[in-house]
Amino acid sequence: MVFEQKHILGLEELSSDEIRLILDTAESMKEVSERDVKKVPALKGVTVVNLFFEPSTRTRASFEIAEKRLSADVLNFTPTESSVVKGETLLDTARNLEAMGASVIVIRHAMSGAPWLLSRELSSSIVNAGDGFHEHPSQALLDLFTVREVKKEISGLKIVIVGDVSHSRVARSNIWGFIKLGAEVRVVGPPTMIPRDIEKVDVRVYYDIEDALEGVDVVMMLRLQKERQESGLLPSLREYSRFYGLTRERLRLAKEDVIVMHPGPINRGVELSSEVADDVHSVILDQVSNGIAVRMAMLYLVASSGGNA
Ligand code: CP
Repeated sequence: MVFEQKHILGLEELSSDEIRLILDTAESMKEVSERDVKKVPALKGVTVVNLFFEPSTRTRASFEIAEKRLSADVLNFTPTESSVVKGETLLDTARNLEAMGASVIVIRHAMSGAPWLLSRELSSSIVNAGDGFHEHPSQALLDLFTVREVKKEISGLKIVIVGDVSHSRVARSNIWGFIKLGAEVRVVGPPTMIPRDIEKVDVRVYYDIEDALEGVDVVMMLRLQKERQESGLLPSLREYSRFYGLTRERLRLAKEDVIVMHPGPINRGVELSSEVADDVHSVILDQVSNGIAVRMAMLYLVASSGGNA
């Protein structure tokens, strides 16, 4: 199968076959990452720009490592040290970087739709590294990869996503991905943090974490964005933790071989206890390691896609 997508903007736009192709390609890329010399010439001569308008540890570092393992020329663009502070627009900034030879742009932006805007206006391939509340496709793909690696098959699994689903691009991308690959998806959180019409996309909604955990194969905790407390969606962090925090005792309601995931950064003692974060069921650091292989696959596929022919 040829990957026809020039851009990766979200999992909503990808077919189940395209998602599987990215995961299968990531398996080969993981093999590269396990060699003594962790480098292949797949993107030699290709310039990739990392355009991060929001803070990031995992995604930014992981894309940069992935690009270097593919032998790309890498430019890390820091908006606070650029002419953006003089008022240059996103589009003009990106057009200038493209004029210098960038052919793949990885963008994180607080505005939902910013990657889509670049994909319409530029001739480079655009890879979404997280846009507002919209999507975080590389995170969801590495989550799918990690689950498939442990459980072998995603179809038929029961996944519960816990927390602030309304404001989570990670949740949105994962919901698309897991549904497309045939899993049962549950969401649980305070009513103020669950989108009103989410059941339209075949998701089961719970408000009680203990009901939601019953018999699941995968628990995906979301980062609690502390700014939500200030906006009145949350009475207090302590109360949130009491009702929705993942403890060892609660985890016993899930299947015996349950895995616990979190996209990071973790608020220990809020979304989950430290003992759960570091427990044998936790695959949180495997998610981070797998992120490199998955991003290598994404970059390789967009750069060589039918859409770029
Ligand atoms: N998971 C994730 O997006 O983490 P960063 O914000 O550190 O990139």
